[in-house]
Amino acid sequence: MDTRRFFAELPTHFAGDPQDHDPVDPAWEGIAQDVAGYTSTNELAVLNHAARLLPQDESYLEVGTFKGRSLCAAVRDVTDKKFYAMENFMEFGMAGEQARDELRANLGRHAQDADVELIEGDCFQLMARPGVVDRPVGVYFYDGEHTLLAHYLALAVAEPLLADEALVLVDDASWPVVQKAHRIFLRNHPGWSIEATWDAREADDPRWANGLHALVFRRTAPSRLGRRDQALLRYQTTVQDRVNAVGWKAAGLMPGVVKTGAKVFLSRSRAIGGGKS
Ligand SMILES: C[S@@+](CC[C@H](N)C(=O)[O-])C[C@H]1O[C@@H](n2cnc3c(N)ncnc32)[C@H](O)[C@@H]1O
Repeated sequence: MDTRRFFAELPTHFAGDPQDHDPVDPAWEGIAQDVAGYTSTNELAVLNHAARLLPQDESYLEVGTFKGRSLCAAVRDVTDKKFYAMENFMEFGMAGEQARDELRANLGRHAQDADVELIEGDCFQLMARPGVVDRPVGVYFYDGEHTLLAHYLALAVAEPLLADEALVLVDDASWPVVQKAHRIFLRNHPGWSIEATWDAREADDPRWANGLHALVFRRTAPSRLGRRDQALLRYQTTVQDRVNAVGWKAAGLMPGVVKTGAKVFLSRSRAIGGGKS
């Protein structure tokens, strides 16, 4: 993936500096209206620009698809590229379960000409599975679980799948928890840099939702998961995912109690501009 070209040409899709301007193409607003979801119009324009520049011998990987808003935008008018989408339909309790049907319907309307492979399951297990993608990932969009460990592993486990030069877009990156995960990860993993930060001015900012950061990976040595990262992956996939499953089940049974608890626990790690998440 030619990441320099991606950054150089990105401003042409906006009325001015992307941070403070809307996309030129009204299509993104249309997709946001039609497909329920969490990504904002500026993010949709960025994802589609990345997908268009992706070389055909590389793939686009999305983690965290929900009802498909970000994926429907990424694939728009991109018929000759391979898209992978990983989703476990666990978040949001029953709403997550219902998301599966809506996702299929949304892809039917917006992605019928695109080559999309939806892989259902836990992204950390899936990404560690040999042969899960048939070609190197040139564009990787992470919008899955938003804990410190999940964001760290989102980079660690994906790295071996990435092309020698890859663009990595991370959603909700204005949250302190995401930035902390990136700081810790980048300290010990060569070849990575943070190239652009489109931050939210407030929680659920209409232009940038909770912020989008663009990282670039340039391979300097063969990628493999180190022993510490393997141990963290084992913890995530054997302990943490069960804790998450219980938590989302409880959220379905006692929505009020769990919502209040989550607000208390997450308010600092997800604070934007001094505000509350
Ligand atoms: C914020 S939503 C994604 C929003 C979507 N990208 C959009 O444009 O609206 C996060 C999604 O990540 C999924 N998710 C969370 N943890 C996951 C995991 N370990 N593996 C796969 N999907 C996961 C959730 O089920 C949820 O649907």
